[in-house]
Amino acid sequence: MPSDNTYPTAEIGVFGGSGFYSLFEKVEEIAVDTPFGPPSDNVFLATLPDRRVAFLPRHGRHHTIPPHAINYRANIWAMKRLGVRFLISPCAAGSLQRHIKPGDFVVCDQYVDRTRNRKDTFYDGPEVYHVSSADPYCPHLRKLAIEVIRDQGIPVHERGTVVVIQGPRFSTKAESRWFTQAGWEVINMTQYPEAYLALEQNIAVVNISLITDYDSGLVAEGEVAPVTQKEVYDTFLKNAERIKKVVKELVQRIPLDLDSPCHHALDHAKVEA
Ligand code: ADE
Repeated sequence: MPSDNTYPTAEIGVFGGSGFYSLFEKVEEIAVDTPFGPPSDNVFLATLPDRRVAFLPRHGRHHTIPPHAINYRANIWAMKRLGVRFLISPCAAGSLQRHIKPGDFVVCDQYVDRTRNRKDTFYDGPEVYHVSSADPYCPHLRKLAIEVIRDQGIPVHERGTVVVIQGPRFSTKAESRWFTQAGWEVINMTQYPEAYLALEQNIAVVNISLITDYDSGLVAEGEVAPVTQKEVYDTFLKNAERIKKVVKELVQRIPLDLDSPCHHALDHAKVEA
């Protein structure tokens, strides 16, 4: 869907919490309509000398929308409507592996969907698309994000699989141990279907997982207590400035003429009658 001239345009989108709009001066707040109902909040548009950035708090500005109730289609549609081609998707996440520590960043390259009953496609018919999600995250944006994080001296894991659970509850010890034993690295509640829906709109997306806790599975080894919301919140707050600095720098480093495989996700994906 092309952006139309009713709205200003932005090349880069960020799903981020309230602190993110203060990253830049001259922020304009706009309501964006979508055929799927309202997005999580208004979009905040920042104008830089050579680019515009659209911020949308995925949980709403006062964090009133739990992960399973987010209108992911509306959020992605709003970004597309503004013309966004690059999407930065930071999130809090738990660690499933001992060597990934609270405070580390992981630039995920894969997800495993353990959600249910979420609206996870724009193509409910009559147009039928089967989109490859083999590589759901943009390789170019991932490389850039890794460079930016490393330049800031933050411990970064260059790849990782994020298990996306339905929430809002955290995992049982058994579930968490299972994910750990499968070799997956990170656990979160929002990357699916957010990242996939971006692909259905030919938007290149990068995830930056900020590790806030060890999930519940490593508990069996007797070293850490199961994750609590307080722990997630406290660690996220402690690291908020670092994630904001990373996002700010990444926004400025993305070459706007970059052509990503994600921009062609719909090529050859349509079922021709
Ligand atoms: N977000 C932050 N930590 C998490 C965890 N342990 N499980 C699911 N989502 C999370």
